[in-house]
Parts: sequence; structure tokens; C-alpha cells
Amino acid sequence: MDLTDSSQTDWWRRGVVYQIYPRSFADSNGDGLGDLAGIEAHLDHLQDGTAGSLGIDAIWLSPIYPSPDFDMGYDVADYVDVDPRYGTIEGFERLVAACHARGLRVILDLVLNHSSSRHAWFTASRAGRDGPYADWYLWRDSPGRTLTGKRRLPNNWRSFFGGPAWTWEPAREQFYLHTFLPEQPDLNWRHPPVRAALLDVVRTWRDRGVDGFRLDVFNTYFKDAQLRSNPRRVGGRGAWSWQRHVNDRNQPELAGALADLRRLVDEHPGGMTVGELFDGKLQDAAGYVAPHHLIFDFTLIGLPWTAAAFGGAIAARDAAFRPDRWPANVLSNHDQPRHAGRYDGPSGDARAKVAATLLATLRGTPFLYYGEELAQRNLVVPNAVAIDPPARRASFLFPWWNRDQARGPMAWRPGPGGGFTTGDPWLPLSPDAATRNVETESTDPGSVLSWYRRVIWLRRATPQLQVGDQSIVDTGDRDVLAYVRRTEGAAAVVALNFADRPATIRLPSGVGAAPGWALALSTQGRDPGTPLPAELTLDSNEALIAIGS
Ligand code: GLC
Repeated sequence: MDLTDSSQTDWWRRGVVYQIYPRSFADSNGDGLGDLAGIEAHLDHLQDGTAGSLGIDAIWLSPIYPSPDFDMGYDVADYVDVDPRYGTIEGFERLVAACHARGLRVILDLVLNHSSSRHAWFTASRAGRDGPYADWYLWRDSPGRTLTGKRRLPNNWRSFFGGPAWTWEPAREQFYLHTFLPEQPDLNWRHPPVRAALLDVVRTWRDRGVDGFRLDVFNTYFKDAQLRSNPRRVGGRGAWSWQRHVNDRNQPELAGALADLRRLVDEHPGGMTVGELFDGKLQDAAGYVAPHHLIFDFTLIGLPWTAAAFGGAIAARDAAFRPDRWPANVLSNHDQPRHAGRYDGPSGDARAKVAATLLATLRGTPFLYYGEELAQRNLVVPNAVAIDPPARRASFLFPWWNRDQARGPMAWRPGPGGGFTTGDPWLPLSPDAATRNVETESTDPGSVLSWYRRVIWLRRATPQLQVGDQSIVDTGDRDVLAYVRRTEGAAAVVALNFADRPATIRLPSGVGAAPGWALALSTQGRDPGTPLPAELTLDSNEALIAIGS
């Protein structure tokens, strides 16, 4: 595929993105950690031009920069280098070239709200109140002492990972702000040299061939100019939710900074950004969507597995995003328990196939998380022995806040190390990796992996599934979610049975001269091409897609 072809510049709308957690994807040198060469060696799985691969259009790499790993790479010590454990700049450029040669774009994770406390900027900034980096972070004096002699904090803000958002720095005799861990000081986006330096980071990676960026917690870049306390709020679990976060994020100045960043990304055709909305509402998300750019609003991630919950959330988002904002759809990522585990039920992998169908056919860009194509489940890692530092700080109020469980090694084939490593994997492989792996699932036409391939390749061949309008239809059964995707003159219908029992449904008619539906794919192996009756009975947990005929 010619990636400079202008008809391909909306790839981020039509295509499917695959998130790679580099540490866990494939290890090429036996040190137990995944690396860039490992990714390069496994590109065939993602896109080899045939339906034997997943049919992916872009990979998003979670951070690959040098990092002391207090937040597993989301604490960046150098924005323009590659961590030696993952590879080198040359290795990265080789990977980009290999991806581009097969029509795969490359998206990097940009963590610009905060750096690592080991970043040279912070080392200089914390050393004293003078010097060129003095104002690169958010420093404040203590407003005095409490009756017990403790230093008062500049305001009431909390760290998302627990405790106050302020840490004392003796060298400056001041507090610095950190929305996340103390090892992740927040950058001062109101200071022009900081903005210039961060835009330079974007330029550097664009010049190295990167096609787009995921913007980590972008809506926290700016804080209230006077750093006023947040108003209190009643209810919710944990101190973070006992305040309304009106002053520590979603500030009006963000719009200008995002526009600068997007303009830079758009300088070469085909660029995109996807912003991670941090702890925000659908309405906030809608306000941030810009032409050519996406926002993760996580509408789908928190839902229980019912057709009503999904139908309601999808309708609410369609309304908020009307008329032309484009959603990003995601069911799993590196921060949440894997969805095959969340939805696990008596039906084994059947729900994972229904979920895959939803992801691949819903209006919006699907984001897959490595391993979900195998219906990989969550690892059992007690918080006390978790590798992810925030998990070890997690209170009993948040037992689910253990992200190691979703970050286990990818399983490529049966045998020790699962084809992930010849060494000691940094987290254990799933207990079922001997059967739940790429090689084994590839030989089984009924596997979740085979289903992902079929459904994504159908999407690739069906423009109405990529860019069509969407309307939810009433099927007459509350456990079945169905929707029609339409472009001028073409339509597709998707019906998803969320229940562990058969369901009889009615389908609406197709389009104009083609009022009927011909079956394209069904998880129950119905014959493709068969005309569908207006009323039909779905098997339990059946997903089907039919095309207007
Ligand atoms: C985002 C990342 C998460 C990280 C946090 C702080 O939410 O997805 O992994 O811990 O930002 O950078």
C-alpha cells in the first residue's frame, strides 16, 4: 500500500489500531522483556496483506523511552530516545520502515503532562529557584505550618495514585505538583519554553517517520492559573473522588495548546492524535474531538455485559458526537482488567467473539489491545507482589487497581516461554498459554483469533462498516443489540446476542433497491450469502453481520 496516497489519509477513521505493550509482546534477546526487534519479528501476525493476518492498519506502542519505571514507562526520562532495554533509535527507524512497507502506521505514546523525576529538566529544576529550568515544573511555597508544625500544602489537590498531589523539595524549600506519583512531576505548560520543547519532541518523532500519537492524560496539561483548591464533593470511593476536579484539569487554555500540537502533526498528510481523556465525561470528550483527531472517552470500558448497557451508552455517545465527530472504541488497555476476563461467563469464549464483533463494526475506530485477539484472560497477581508500583500503593478500596493482571506476556506458541521469551518472562504467562496462543488458535477455525481475523477482514472489504452512519434498531428482544451501518446506497446490519439463551428478533429492511439482507458472517457458522428472513432466531451468544442485498 502506498502510504503517501492521499486517499489513505483518513486511515485513522477506516482502519483498526492495535496497542502493543512493548515489554510484553515479544522478546528477541532472552532477557524476559519484550523489545522492538521482537515486534519487528512478529509483524506478519498483524498485517501480511492476507486474511491469515489480523488485518491491522496501525500499531500504537506504549512508551518506549528511557524510564526508571516508577509508572512502567509513563515516567519518561528522555523524550527523544529509546530505552536500551527495548532497542536503539536505529532499531526504531528499522521497525518504522518495516511497518510502512506493509501498510502499517506507527503511533507513539506521548506522556506530556509529566516527566520522570529523573528527567534532566527536573533534576535542574529541583536544584534551586534560579537557573533556566526553574519554572519548568509547578513549584509553590508552603503557606505556613499547621498547629502540629507540619507544612501546609499549597492546595487540596490529590494524587490519582493516592496521597496529596504535592511533595516537598528541601533543595528549593518548595512543594512540586504531581497528579500521579511523586516520581512524575507535572510540567508547567504555561511556561513558553516548556511548550516549545514538547512541540520539538513531536517534531523529532514525526521526522523519524512516526504517523501519530496517543496523548496520555492530555486534559490535565493545564491547571487553574492560581492553583485554587477543588470544591468538595460528597460520595464516591477514595479521596480522589471526594472533590470536583474543576481546577486541576479541563482548563480553557488547553484548546490553544492542542491546536498547536495538531497543526504540527497535520503538517505531513496522514498524521493523527488520539487523546486519552483522563477521568472525564462524554461531554468533555465531545468538546475535544477535532477534525482528523480522536479522543478516548472510555464509554464502553466500564459497562456491564448487557445489551441494554451497551445500547444506552452507544446512543448517548452518538448523540453527544453528532453530527460528525468520530469516536474511538476500546474495550481493553494496559490500565484495566482485560475484557475477556471482565465478561467471562458460562459460555467460555463466546462473549469474546461477540465483543470482537462489536468493536470491529461499531461506528468509530477500533483499538485492540495485544492478546485480546486470543481472548487472553487476566493474570492473578496479588497487590502485595505486583510489579506495577501504583498497585502496591493501592488501598483496599481499589483491589482492582492492579494493572499487572492485564500486562502479561503475549503467547505465540505452546511450550516454555510461549514463544514470548527464551528466558524468564518479567510476568508469568497465562496458565492456559499452552492452548491459548497464536499458533494453536490459528489452526482452529472456531477460535477467537480466527474470528477476529474474519471480522476485521470483512470490515476492510465493507465501506459501510468503516465509515457508515449508525442507527440502533429495536429487535424486540432486550438482550440483543442490533444496529445498521449505512453509506449512500449500501448498508450492513449487526446483531449481537448478549444472552446465554437463544433470542428471536426482527430485523429492519435494508436500503432502497436492496431491502433484504444476505448473511456475511456468523459466530455459529451459518452459510455466507444466505438471505436472512425478517424474523430470525439467534443462538445463545451469537453475533452476526449481514449485508444489504
Ligand atoms: C495514563 C496511562 C497510565 C499512566 C497514567 C499516568 O492513564 O494510561 O498507564 O499510569 O496515564 O501517566
